[in-house]
Amino acid sequence: MTQFPPINPRLPRLWHGADYSPEQWTPDIWQEDMRLMRLARCNVMSVGIFAWAALEPEEGCYRFEWLDQVLDLMAENNVYALLATPSGAKPAWLAAKYPEVRRVRPDGVRELQGGRHNHCLTSPVYRAKTRQINTLLAERYQDHPALLMWHVSNEYSGECRCDLCRAAFRDWLHRKYGTLDALNHAWWTAFWSHTYTDWSQIDPPTPIGETSIHGLSLDWKRFVTDQTLDFMRNEIAPLRQITPDVPLTTNFMGAFPGLNYWKLAPALDVISWDSYPLWHQGAPDAEHAVKTAFIHDIHRSMKGGRPFMLMESTPSVTNWHPHARLKRPGMHLLSSLQAVAHGADTVQYFQWRKSRGSSEKFHGAVVDHAGHDRTRVFGDVAEVGAALERLAPVLGAGVAARVAIIYDWENRWALEGAQGPLQGDKGYWDACLDHYRAFWQRGVPVDVIDMEQDPARYDLVIAPMLYMVRPGVAERLSAWVAAGGTLVATYWSGVVDENDLCFLGGFPGPLRDLLGVWAEEIDALTPDDENCVAIAPDTPLGLAGTYRARDLCELIHPEGARVLATYQADFYAGRPALTVNTFGEGQAYYVASRNEQHFTDDFCRALCDARSIRPSLNVELPPGISVQARTDGTRLFAFVMNFAPEPVRVPLDGQRYTDLLTGEPASATLDLAPYGVAVLEPAR
Ligand code: GLA
Ligand code: ZN
Repeated sequence: MTQFPPINPRLPRLWHGADYSPEQWTPDIWQEDMRLMRLARCNVMSVGIFAWAALEPEEGCYRFEWLDQVLDLMAENNVYALLATPSGAKPAWLAAKYPEVRRVRPDGVRELQGGRHNHCLTSPVYRAKTRQINTLLAERYQDHPALLMWHVSNEYSGECRCDLCRAAFRDWLHRKYGTLDALNHAWWTAFWSHTYTDWSQIDPPTPIGETSIHGLSLDWKRFVTDQTLDFMRNEIAPLRQITPDVPLTTNFMGAFPGLNYWKLAPALDVISWDSYPLWHQGAPDAEHAVKTAFIHDIHRSMKGGRPFMLMESTPSVTNWHPHARLKRPGMHLLSSLQAVAHGADTVQYFQWRKSRGSSEKFHGAVVDHAGHDRTRVFGDVAEVGAALERLAPVLGAGVAARVAIIYDWENRWALEGAQGPLQGDKGYWDACLDHYRAFWQRGVPVDVIDMEQDPARYDLVIAPMLYMVRPGVAERLSAWVAAGGTLVATYWSGVVDENDLCFLGGFPGPLRDLLGVWAEEIDALTPDDENCVAIAPDTPLGLAGTYRARDLCELIHPEGARVLATYQADFYAGRPALTVNTFGEGQAYYVASRNEQHFTDDFCRALCDARSIRPSLNVELPPGISVQARTDGTRLFAFVMNFAPEPVRVPLDGQRYTDLLTGEPASATLDLAPYGVAVLEPAR
C-alpha cells in the first residue's frame, strides 16, 4: 500500500501547528494568537496538555468555560484542536491529598510534588482521576467542530517502585511464569544463591538491591512498558467510547530507551514523535540528519508505513541542548521537510507562545516574548506553512522501501545489560546507524522494524547485532531467506534467548543453520588496536580490497557458508571475517567484525546492486545531500535536501522535474543553497 488516508478526513491536508497553552494567558492574548496562527498558516494546535490544574482547580470542581472559549475561537479561525488529556502533569491538590499518585524512586523514597511526567503507573486513584477528567472532556467536546484528534497525555516515560507497582510487577511475573520454578530457571537464579522461594521476595532491580539478574532487569523493563500501555488504555477507554471517530495518538520520543514503542503502537491510530536534533553543534549537520532520518523511519515503520506526525520540533532553539544554537537560515524549512520526506503528514512545534516564566521560558516558540510576528523565527514558521500548502499532493503518500534494518528495543536492553565483551556501550545503536547511513547517503529508502515483523515485503534485511533471538524469529527469517530473501547478520548475534539465557550448543544459536557459521569466540579490541579484513578474490558481490576492523572481531567457522573475506592480522589472520550462505533461494551473509564505514558503504551498495535496489534518484549524490522519496504509487515526490552549510550542485538523472516548492523546472542539475531543499516531481 503506498497511499494512505488522511489522519482525519475532516482536515485532508498537511497539518501545521504547535503546542498551545492558552491557560497561561488571558483572552486578549487568545484573540491575538488567532490572528498570528492564521498569519503563520497554522491549521492545528495541541491544546490542554498541561492544563489539569486549570480544568479542575479543586477536586471535583471543574472549569471548562475557558476551554470552551478557546475552542470556539479556534473553530472560528479554522484552527483545529488536538485536544490533550492532562495526565502528563498532576495538580498539586491531587499530589497532596493522594500521596500514592507520586512516584517512588529506585532508592525507595517517595517523591514530593513537582515537575511533570512523574505519576505512579499503577495507582488506582490516579487512574480513576485521569479517567474521570478524560470522560468529562470527551463528553463536553465530542461534537465540537474544532476537535480533530486526541493528544493522549505527553511523552509517557519513567518508572515507579511503590508498593502498588511492586505488587503489580509480581502479578505480572506470576502470569508470565506460573510457577517460581519456571521463574528461577528463566532468570538462572541459582547463580550467587539468588533463588526465590516466595513471590514476595522479588523486587524490581535497583542500585540498592538486585542488579545482577539479567532476566529480572529485562522483565522489569517489559513490565514498565506493559504497565504504561495499561495506564494509557485506561485513559483511552472513555475517548474510544464517547468519540469513536476521533483518531488518537500519544507523542513518542524517538529512540527513548525506556519504552518499547512497538508495544504501544497498536493501541494508537497514528504514530507521532517529538524531534529535537542537535543542529549546528557537536557533529556536522549531515550526521544529525542521518540520525534523525533513522528515527523518522522507525516511526513510519511502526504502523506499516502509514504517515506519522512530527508532533513536536522547535521553531528555533531548545532550552536543554548543550548550546542553544540558532537555526541557520534555511534549516527550519529543511528540518521540517525532512520529516515530511520520511513520511510525516504534519509539522508541529513545541511551542506556540513562549511562556513568560518557569523552566521553559527560554525554549524556542513561534511567538516570542516580543509578542508580534516581526521576528526571523516567525517568518521561518510562516515559510513552512506556505511550503506545506504547496506540498498538498504529498498527503498520504507512502515510502516504497525494499530494504529493512532491524532495530529492536528488547535486543537493545539485553545488549546494554550484558557485562562483556565490552564494558559500557556495546555499540548497538551505532551498528544500526552505520548500516542505515550506507543507504541514506545514496538515497535508498529503508524501513526500520523490530524482530517481530514479517520480512516478506522486503528484498534485503539487515539485522545488526541480533544478540537476542526471540522464539519464532529464526524460523521467520529462515523461511523468508529460503524463499529468496537476502539477510545480513553480524558479529554477536544469536547469543541469548528471550530470557537473556545463552543459547547452548554454539552461537549464533537458532540462526546457525541459516547463516552456515559457528561463532566460537569474540575478541574485543582496545580502542588503539585494529585488525584488517581482506576481500577474497572473485567474490560474487564484486567487492575488492581491504578494510579496517575495530572493537569486536569474532572467530567463526564456516559450516556450509562461503568465505568472502579473511582477517589479516593477529593469531586469527587467515580466518573468515565475511561469509555468505546460500539457503534455499536466498542468501544469508555474516559480517564477523565491526568494520569501518567504508566497508559498510561498499557492502550495502553491492547488496543493492545484486538485488537491483535503486536509489530514489539514480545519481551519485554529493556528500551532505539526502534524497528521500514519497510515492502514492503513481506520483513520485523526491525531496532533495542539502544538510551542508555550503551551496551544492546536485546532478539529476536527465528526467525533467518540477520543484513543487517554487514551480521551477529542473533537469540536468539542481542548485541548492546552504540548507536548501527542493521537492522534485517528474514532469508529466
Ligand atoms: C518535550 C515535551 C514538551 C517540551 C519539550 C521541550 O518534548 O513534550 O512539553 O517540554 O520537550 O523541548
Ligand atoms: Zn507506583
